Amino acid sequence: MIPVILSGGSGTRLWPLSRAKKPKQFLPLLNDKSMLQNTLLRLKGLPALESPMVICNEDHRFMVAEQLRELATEQADIILEPVGRNTAPAIAIAAVKAVADNPDALLLVLAADHAIRDIPAFHQAIELATPAAQQGKLVTFGIVPTCAHTGYGYIRKAEQTDASLTAEVFTVAEFCEKPDLATATGFVNSGQYYWNSGMFLFRASSLLAELKQFAPQIVTCAEQAMLKASRDLDFIRLDKTAFAASPSDSIDYAVMEKSANAVMVALDAGWSDVGSWDALWDVMAKDEQGNACRGDVLLDQCRNSYINAEERLVAVIGLDDVVVVETKDAVLVASKSHIQAVKNIVTKLQSYG
Ligand code: GDD
Ligand code: MG
Repeated sequence: MIPVILSGGSGTRLWPLSRAKKPKQFLPLLNDKSMLQNTLLRLKGLPALESPMVICNEDHRFMVAEQLRELATEQADIILEPVGRNTAPAIAIAAVKAVADNPDALLLVLAADHAIRDIPAFHQAIELATPAAQQGKLVTFGIVPTCAHTGYGYIRKAEQTDASLTAEVFTVAEFCEKPDLATATGFVNSGQYYWNSGMFLFRASSLLAELKQFAPQIVTCAEQAMLKASRDLDFIRLDKTAFAASPSDSIDYAVMEKSANAVMVALDAGWSDVGSWDALWDVMAKDEQGNACRGDVLLDQCRNSYINAEERLVAVIGLDDVVVVETKDAVLVASKSHIQAVKNIVTKLQSYG
């Protein structure tokens, strides 16, 4: 089983800490290790693991190499994208590389920026998923939803069980990526839907067969980009022209919504995609007043707040449910209930150039 770590996202909702130069997967948000490092560390103990592939933007190559070195994971293949084309082309690259050695190779596709509290439960879900993936299924891991989040994919499992699969593996009856709020609310209220965790297990050849059917150009571009790739120090540098010619799409839209071959294993492991400051507050250890702090922080009469001081001492008095993130060149102060609007600030900043 080859772990494929997708590390090319921008994580803009964690501004001002997450920046283009150092997006959230490279930050130590949960403990003293970065999200990428935690992603690799939580694989320890899984059977039949091969060296991981880490797929990232070329601008981040030295940071990735350094973070892997810190874990003594020098065996990893670090694959460099000249431009971001979303997750389907990145996964296609991993599949094209893997099938060259072994068409039956299993790819465990993981986001580099998730938190998972219960590692044994995570391992157990992967073990339950393995036979189905070996049979040619595309396995996704489903999370019981807690709100009508519109940033996730939603999965309805089929009522009918498939006799060729074990009891814990369900056929996917419907996969809906990022529905609008009304649709997501309906899904959650029905009690029939799971969130897509964004982690997958499949044979490299199975994924390529589906991609060839639904997005053949992504496969052609991936094959060309790999064929013309160059070795550069420890890195595999994809051919720029070929990779840039790829359509940009996520694996969820390109394959999972369309595939008749998708199955789901439920994952109950304290999963979070740590997509925003309030989500990070949610998964962090807190003091008796419900405050989660990092760095040099002094609080008085504050509750349920997230305070992160990177450079200076931050003192907060008499505020509840706030987010304060202090960095060298920017400070965010926000009410937790409005934290999704960080994206508006980022948009404004981008329009300033
Ligand atoms: N290499 C590479 N290249 N990685 C990428 C790229 C890219 O162009 N774009 C995103 N990634 C990485 C991100 O760093 C992250 O680790 C992972 O791929 C998922 O990308 P996101 O952009 O975070 O996706 P999402 O959160 O909007 O949606 C996905 O995850 C949700 C759960 O967190 C989907 O799979 C949803 O269905 C799912 O619910
Ligand atoms: Mg995400």
